[in-house]
Amino acid sequence: MLEFKTIEDFDLNGKKVIIRVDFNVPVKDGKITDDNRIVKSIKTIKYALDNGAKEVILMSHMGKVKKEEDKAKNSLRVVVPRLEELLNMPVDFIEHTSGNELISDLKNSNNRVKLMENTRYEDLNNKRESKNDDNLGRHWATLGDIAIFDGFGASHRDHASTSSMFKHIECGIGFLALEEISKIEEITNENTHPFVIVMGGAKVSDKIAVINNLIDKCDKLIIGGAMAFTFLKALGYNVGKSLVDDEHIEFCRDLMHKYASKISLPFDVVTNNGVKTINNILDDEMGLDIGPETVKLFKENLADAKRVIANGTMGKNEEEKYAVGSREIYGFLASSDAKVLVGGGDTASAVNDFGLTNKFYHISTGGGATLEYLGGNLGSIFEILKSSSVTYGKNKKRNKEAGA
Ligand code: 3PG
Repeated sequence: MLEFKTIEDFDLNGKKVIIRVDFNVPVKDGKITDDNRIVKSIKTIKYALDNGAKEVILMSHMGKVKKEEDKAKNSLRVVVPRLEELLNMPVDFIEHTSGNELISDLKNSNNRVKLMENTRYEDLNNKRESKNDDNLGRHWATLGDIAIFDGFGASHRDHASTSSMFKHIECGIGFLALEEISKIEEITNENTHPFVIVMGGAKVSDKIAVINNLIDKCDKLIIGGAMAFTFLKALGYNVGKSLVDDEHIEFCRDLMHKYASKISLPFDVVTNNGVKTINNILDDEMGLDIGPETVKLFKENLADAKRVIANGTMGKNEEEKYAVGSREIYGFLASSDAKVLVGGGDTASAVNDFGLTNKFYHISTGGGATLEYLGGNLGSIFEILKSSSVTYGKNKKRNKEAGA
């Protein structure tokens, strides 16, 4: 377990506290469709307020900002009403993301909580945020006395707001991020068996690191979702028009060769033409969900599990008729006695839609971040937090150096 200072280790009284959250939430027609990341950030924000922070400056990215037109649809302004509701207090929205304009926005804002506009607006200036520009990080660091990292969902990104800023300010970790890593560490390292990994979703490439890192530790690896077709193709089955990650067929073949007894693949699938056993898929058919016999098989494999890490859906969940496999498997896991950690992103939204939100040991707020962490690829933020020895607060020389 990594050791770092947490927000509770600081005297926040009278301080300006920057909190790097991950408010990159899904938005449809101007409405937030899953507010889990905002809800889970509240504990840290409230802690700072309750412990006398003079100001809380929230920073986050949202979406990708590659051109001017991307700005409007990726503005963090959409988060303000929900944040105000959850905090039960007004929140000032800070429109500028750097320079004197940002400083004067902050100066002119009277409320204690401030949410800065999308850090990736700075990507329009030589990708400063995404390229981890140190000057930008230093500049942002001057805005506060202490920075708290709580944006676990973005922890795999070495960007200016998730990496270099933290090198220039006293820093620690927030409750959300600490809970995420503690739970991931606990479930992967405790010695209870059977330990089962359930993988789904489209791409094999996203899961390679996790599989490599956990295959020897787990007792069973269940593979559903579109990624199963790459494995089936590697075994010589005709998968018709199903999604296949051709570049990773070799990886799947090797894995099957080495770990055949651990890996459980679909036996039947729901295609656009109805249920088919895997040796009967026709050229023009596409597998879109696991079939009923596979649901049974996967449940049998999960029946006595003590620990489960589940990431990815079993089918094309956007269409209700192909969400049956996921509903069955996640429903089964929700009612089992196993300790179940659900990886975030689409999987978290799916279990939310199934009404299973509070039924698991942990639902991660991270999508890619959870996979990276499970794969042993920790973002630089964790090293920075671990070795944080910067102890200066409001320092005029530092402000000057950073060009603020
Ligand atoms: C996520 O939603 O996975 C995180 O917020 C990271 O977003 P990104 O993939 O755009 O960097």
